Amino acid sequence: MSSTIVSPPADLTPQQMQRFSKLVYEKIGVTISPQKVTLLSNRLRRRLRSTGVANYDAYYDLLSSTSTDTAEWEAFLQEVTTHETYLFRDQAHWDWIRNVFLPDIQAQVREGKRRPTLRIWSAACSTGDEATSLACCVADRLQPGGDWKIEILGTDVGSGAVAAANRGVFGERAMRLVPESMRRRFFEYDAETREWTSRDVLRRMMKFRTHNLLKPLREAPFDLVLLKNVLIYFDAASKKQVVQELRRVVTPGGYLITGAAEGVADLIRDLTSTHGWLHRFPTAHKPGVAT
Ligand SMILES: C[S@@+](CC[C@H](N)C(=O)[O-])C[C@H]1O[C@@H](n2cnc3c(N)ncnc32)[C@H](O)[C@@H]1O
Repeated sequence: MSSTIVSPPADLTPQQMQRFSKLVYEKIGVTISPQKVTLLSNRLRRRLRSTGVANYDAYYDLLSSTSTDTAEWEAFLQEVTTHETYLFRDQAHWDWIRNVFLPDIQAQVREGKRRPTLRIWSAACSTGDEATSLACCVADRLQPGGDWKIEILGTDVGSGAVAAANRGVFGERAMRLVPESMRRRFFEYDAETREWTSRDVLRRMMKFRTHNLLKPLREAPFDLVLLKNVLIYFDAASKKQVVQELRRVVTPGGYLITGAAEGVADLIRDLTSTHGWLHRFPTAHKPGVAT
């Protein structure tokens, strides 16, 4: 009996690398540098093995002839994007949300200056850790229920990430910064799997769906938007497009929190930035209108 040994393809050629990078860039705005050729080749080899597609060129043809909402695009994006996230990432942001932002909203409601509503968007939410941290803070500070109408939207381009966000199950690593006082109140612990599942008190506030940041988001304006650790992978033109779309869905005087290296300072000069990561829209800002 003879067996055929099919050797895996060598790394992508510079031309193939350029074609795949362009494809990713055009669909989701993420830039893959030529230095990542070995990484991308390894990841594509995995897709070739799983799909049985013969070579990189045939795989490129498969992707470029299908829309991004197909299962194969999802698997491909899963390979080429970074999903690293965990709850309560960046302590300073959460200190501000808990100690300044939410008490301020609460005071405005108490003084009759606003209705008891709050809308927050976790843009590029990955597996929902950021949105879940938001829900923990809101549940802790505002005790939602009664008159409060609270909506926390998490969106990501990856449907696998969104499905995981909807499951709301987190391992010890993702949970490592969650304050002890919140763990037992807001999560159910499974000692066998060592996983924590969000309780209904959090789930009621959150919804997750796929969304590409380069496209318009059809939603009512948000009081706070978190846009963290995603634009670091975007070039200037894509960053500009994302910020332009984002402006349409922020309330007058609403806030934007960015990651440390998002590189959007030039695009938000009209906002008031009290920290490198915290920006406030003018009260004269008009949602629905890009500037
Ligand atoms: C590193 S995670 C950031 C998660 C979270 N914001 C945080 O800071 O912990 C980056 C996420 O951006 C998503 N992403 C990349 N390009 C995107 C796009 N064009 N639209 C929406 N999400 C995108 C990826 O799928 C990935 O889940």
